[in-house]
Amino acid sequence: MCIGNEFGKRLDYMKSTSQLYLAPIQGVTNEGYQTIYHDLFSGIDCYVAPFVKVGMQGKRKNRKKALLPERNEKIRLIPQILSNNVAEFLQFDQYLQDAGYQEFNWNLGCPMRMVTLKKRGAGLLPYPEQIEAMLDHIMPKIHCQMSVKVRLGLKHADELLTVLPILNRFPIQMLIIHPRLGQQAYAGQVDLQAFEECLRTAKHSVVYNGDIFNLESFRALQKRFPQIKHWMLGRGVLANPFLPAQIKGEDKDKSEKLEMIMRFHAAMAAQYEEKLSGPAHVLDKLLAIWFYLHHVFADGAALYRQLKKAKKYEVYKARLDHFYSTTPPLREHLNIVSEDFI
Ligand SMILES: Cc1cc2nc3c(=O)[nH]c(=O)nc-3n(C[C@H](O)[C@H](O)[C@H](O)COP(=O)(O)O)c2cc1C
Repeated sequence: MCIGNEFGKRLDYMKSTSQLYLAPIQGVTNEGYQTIYHDLFSGIDCYVAPFVKVGMQGKRKNRKKALLPERNEKIRLIPQILSNNVAEFLQFDQYLQDAGYQEFNWNLGCPMRMVTLKKRGAGLLPYPEQIEAMLDHIMPKIHCQMSVKVRLGLKHADELLTVLPILNRFPIQMLIIHPRLGQQAYAGQVDLQAFEECLRTAKHSVVYNGDIFNLESFRALQKRFPQIKHWMLGRGVLANPFLPAQIKGEDKDKSEKLEMIMRFHAAMAAQYEEKLSGPAHVLDKLLAIWFYLHHVFADGAALYRQLKKAKKYEVYKARLDHFYSTTPPLREHLNIVSEDFI
């Protein structure tokens, strides 16, 4: 690809300054996804793991599997906690320290009703005193660095603005802001004006997160917020795994891309076949990937319908093989919006 001088310089600038994080997407970006993605694609600098619930009972086995020490050697993996309980934080921190991790993330943004009703995730944002009391207890005792992932609020955009001066008092590693309300989940627009206000108030380094679905949306945000150097991408990468590389000016040609998608899917299928009991579970998990990934193909919607209707894993595999055999074209431009993922 021939890159003009000016454009080339701009890409070099982005390469050296933009750090890209893969957002945690529960049920998709699990440990297999992160490592397989990292082996095949490029552009992502850091992976935030989907949250673990650190109950006093149960869940420990899963947590240990997902956060094994060696997982942190190949990629920069940031484990995430969803909790409002100081003892759970200290227990999590101790486990991570023993496993060789140096950082974790606190999920203060999860919008799921069953989570927010328990004053966890975005459900804690309307309670600044509780957040402050927790930080007072946690921060002097933890060994890892802690970052926080937040929304603008649960119901009102001024909730985060009230919480920020509290966060400012503590040595938090960074703040990841998704500029929507909890009650919006992923519907409607991101509120960039409210994000701008948060930027003015926050003293910590801020990571922008939300609706970066193509190069154009990234560039527009970069232009509007030149002070932001760290970006978190979720559904945009799941739909187009080449997006981080494109942002960093390392695009591939189309035949290579098809090959990479096929290898990615084959590796994901192999790890699910090994890990899960029975083809129905494997099929479910792979369909969760295609829910996003089908967007990368020009005729992806039809493929996704066919795969969903397959019902049996053998039929699914045959349909996918047939699709690949037609050398399906990839989309030039992914013109997607948040509603495409609801
Ligand atoms: C199905 C799904 C699961 C998610 N799971 C998590 C999670 O475990 N932890 C978290 O902090 N955010 C989670 N998120 C939110 C994403 O990390 C991210 O903030 C959100 O998708 C907005 O970014 P995007 O527009 O780049 O996708 C989830 C989002 C979706 C759609």
